[in-house]
Amino acid sequence: MKVVAFNGSPRAHGNTREAIGIMAEELEKSGIEVEVIQVGNKKIRGCLGCMWCVKAQNERCVIDEDEVNEYIQKMKEADGIILSSPVYYSGVAGTMKSFLDRAFFVVGVNGNFLRHRVGTSLAAVRRSGGIPTIDNLDRYINYSEMFVPTSNYWNVAHGLKPGEVAQDDEGVQIIRILGKNMAWLMKAVELGKKELPLPEQERKRFTNFIR
Ligand SMILES: Cc1cc2nc3c(=O)[nH]c(=O)nc-3n(C[C@H](O)[C@H](O)[C@H](O)COP(=O)(O)O)c2cc1C
Repeated sequence: MKVVAFNGSPRAHGNTREAIGIMAEELEKSGIEVEVIQVGNKKIRGCLGCMWCVKAQNERCVIDEDEVNEYIQKMKEADGIILSSPVYYSGVAGTMKSFLDRAFFVVGVNGNFLRHRVGTSLAAVRRSGGIPTIDNLDRYINYSEMFVPTSNYWNVAHGLKPGEVAQDDEGVQIIRILGKNMAWLMKAVELGKKELPLPEQERKRFTNFIR
């Protein structure tokens, strides 16, 4: 089984990466492979809202000159995903947000193909803004009908300078437990899929607030 972890920090070796590493250790102990993809330092522009992907139905975004289409396929090949970000102004860092808006819109309009896989979020923060950040990351996972593992607190670890997260004793434990629970849930889902029929996929109703 495989997990793909998207690091939304521009710093490849910062606290977000440190937090992913703690999770990866637990997942790997359970025999799950982890690939880390560095998103935050890429040149990824935001969604154009052009709806090309709705018409094209080919699991691709119209913007082809960056890594987003490749990352969409990475998500599709994975059994589980981790969406992580440093906290920037109490929210998800900009490049990560641009990636997520485009990738998940494409996923959604192509049969929501991540449904019934496992997904979770992680945030690294100096002081405050961790909760709105994981809330925002979790919204993509919820929308995709993914299964979500939990920990004994919210998935946030504290640190300012690269690596400081390792000194956040409680944060390290939260992420370690999250890693263990994610590994277990992935295995339970795989077993469950063999024994129990999955809920039928409903055709999405799409209304707005005027009709
Ligand atoms: C542009 C910017 C905005 C930030 N905003 C916040 C914030 O709102 N709250 C906070 O506690 N820390 C904030 N920080 C600090 C980072 O969240 C913190 O250093 C984090 O550990 C960085 O993770 P990284 O090492 O993976 O990049 C900000 C840092 C930057 C560069």
